[in-house]
Amino acid sequence: MAHPASFTKTEMFYEGKAKRLFGVKEDASLIYQEFKDSLTALNGIKKSEMSGKGILNRDISSLVFRYLKKHGQSSHWVADIGVNAMVTKKVKIIPLEVVVRNVVAGSLAKKLNQEEGRDLEKAIVDLHFKDDSLSDPFINDDQAVHVLKVATEVEVKKIKSMALEINEKLKTLFLGIGLKLVDFKLEFGKFENGEIVLADEISPDTCRLWDVKTGEKRDKDRFRRDLGDVLENYRIVWNDLNKKYGTGL
Ligand SMILES: Nc1ncnc2c1ncn2[C@@H]1O[C@H](COP(=O)(O)OP(=O)(O)OP(=O)(O)O)[C@@H](O)[C@H]1O
Ligand SMILES: [Mg+2]
Repeated sequence: MAHPASFTKTEMFYEGKAKRLFGVKEDASLIYQEFKDSLTALNGIKKSEMSGKGILNRDISSLVFRYLKKHGQSSHWVADIGVNAMVTKKVKIIPLEVVVRNVVAGSLAKKLNQEEGRDLEKAIVDLHFKDDSLSDPFINDDQAVHVLKVATEVEVKKIKSMALEINEKLKTLFLGIGLKLVDFKLEFGKFENGEIVLADEISPDTCRLWDVKTGEKRDKDRFRRDLGDVLENYRIVWNDLNKKYGTGL
């Protein structure tokens, strides 16, 4: 097999809000994911281009996947390629946005009229149906299994327990660079043999990360809430992660 670094991409088969997906000429079981410079919020209504975001999110995501692998949690990640892309295993994405929350924030705070920033007694997992035309609605396990039929009961249990395990590892990873992992969104995919694997990306676009000392936000809320210095903050996350973990992974 050719080395992943020399893989070549074939035609683009999907363009999302944050990534472009291509085939890999040398291996049909892999895909080539290019991280875009676009930032979107409010289900795509708010949009912007920020030159260099794709590179940062590829670098951060890749480091996180490599850290998880080192700590016993595999993912779709295979190798980095170029400056803003990675080769991953191709999976059938389970259309669930799996949100893990350690702190009350964002849509949860709004929906239940709770103040942002309160630590939860235990991490909780929220499921959303991944469907832009419905604005990714919040659903419960029974709706996922018996109405949408996107996973079996056993699979939903497995996904939630994997998400909580990943949460423990990510909390430690980010605390190591002085960041509190407030909440984050995961996507899981399935191989042909039914095995479930962590997919998509883990980046400041998909996590809330607050500076432990100052409370400063270093994630996409800077864009959603017009706080400014979006990429400067993503860059702090990357530089600190790379300094602390880069050589050991
Ligand atoms: N390993 C993988 N195999 C197949 N598809 C994947 C894999 N990892 C991520 N994807 C999918 O790649 C797509 C492109 O990512 P991107 O983040 O740009 O999408 P998005 O615009 O956020 O969301 P949407 O899924 O609604 O298009 C997503 O649909 C995601 O589920
Ligand atoms: Mg996405």
